[in-house]
Amino acid sequence: MTHPDYNLASSAGLGVEFCGQTPYPLSQSILEFAVQTTLETRCHDLLTHLGRLPSGAVVTVTPLSGGVASDIAIVQVNDDKYCVKFALPKLRVKADWFAPVERNLAEYRWLECVAAIAPQSSVTLLGHSGEAHGFAMEFLDGANTYLFKTALLNGEGKAEEAAAIGTLLGQIHAASTAPDFDTSPFRNHDDFYAIRIEPYLIHTSHAHEDLRSRLLAMADELHQSSAVLIHGDVSPKNIMFRDGRPYILDAECATMGDPSFDLGFCMNHFILKAVHVASCRSRYLSLCRDFWQAYTPHVTWEDLDVLEQRLCRLLPMLMLARVDGKSPVEYFNTEDQALVRGLAIPLIETPPSNLDELLFRLTSTL
Ligand SMILES: Nc1ncnc2c1ncn2[C@@H]1O[C@H](COP(=O)(O)OP(=O)(O)OP(=O)(O)O)[C@@H](O)[C@H]1O
Ligand SMILES: [Mg+2]
Repeated sequence: MTHPDYNLASSAGLGVEFCGQTPYPLSQSILEFAVQTTLETRCHDLLTHLGRLPSGAVVTVTPLSGGVASDIAIVQVNDDKYCVKFALPKLRVKADWFAPVERNLAEYRWLECVAAIAPQSSVTLLGHSGEAHGFAMEFLDGANTYLFKTALLNGEGKAEEAAAIGTLLGQIHAASTAPDFDTSPFRNHDDFYAIRIEPYLIHTSHAHEDLRSRLLAMADELHQSSAVLIHGDVSPKNIMFRDGRPYILDAECATMGDPSFDLGFCMNHFILKAVHVASCRSRYLSLCRDFWQAYTPHVTWEDLDVLEQRLCRLLPMLMLARVDGKSPVEYFNTEDQALVRGLAIPLIETPPSNLDELLFRLTSTL
């Protein structure tokens, strides 16, 4: 079984105790020292505010460096391990990409919803602070815990994992269409526009004049929809498995929106991994079908064919967005990028009418 890809900054010498005596290594730069100290102080203040810091506790803060949009850390308090997360106002990407820090509360509310809908697939939540734009949750670890992205990149992605994610997402989407579901924390259409629609679809439309009207029409459609509660970032780097169960993390894009966005976003990652991990191509493309088959029994709020057709229009746009949008895939070389452009553009020009056709067209080109 793959080990979790925690990208621990401790490997760079940043793990430090702040109630104990461990000094910073002399070689560490003043800047790293300042950043780390600030994060420690914020973790300390948040956990104190949440009543999780007994006096005299030995506390160790270890940044998790995977975060592009957040400061996120493992905080060990005596024998307990927590994961603490604060939203960043400016994302750590090449392009200037700002995002409202209130999204941290939307993430917490989404995690609370999942705790009610699918408790077996939810992290234990320990509290949120509106002032700090931060929250604390259980830190997922243990021998049978791994990040799905690591498994996929290692060629170990499995049909049952894709199906488990499809089932979980179907349950969440369906539960959010109940008449008594409280949508008030998730009227985040404008934030969703800023952090998903603009960087992916609008930004990409500037590089593809011929496809511009299609991309803009889709952007508008997504912005208008309030059909279900969407997560907005269903990427393998945000999905951990523990003891065979999926845990979807990082819900800061959560909003009422179009379910095809979550579906397309996740399937896009299976396709991108199929391009990148050549030895797993057909198996990874099939993950889209495994995921879809597990998801579809939950669709009660609209005609399945209509949803499938929308998905088939959106998915190639998201493929192109991961090459020419604001957040290009970091593990792609120029050949991978050209391959994805060559796959996505004809699919946007002439959208397939169902997922089988989409996968057939991908398989016959790849
Ligand atoms: N509760 C948790 N338990 C264990 N690991 C976690 C937990 N939450 C997050 N992680 C790890 O930290 C990484 C970064 O977390 P998260 O995705 O929430 O941060 P982010 O800054 O929003 O990330 P990004 O924008 O890069 O997706 C995850 O990919 C996962 O590996
Ligand atoms: Mg993430």
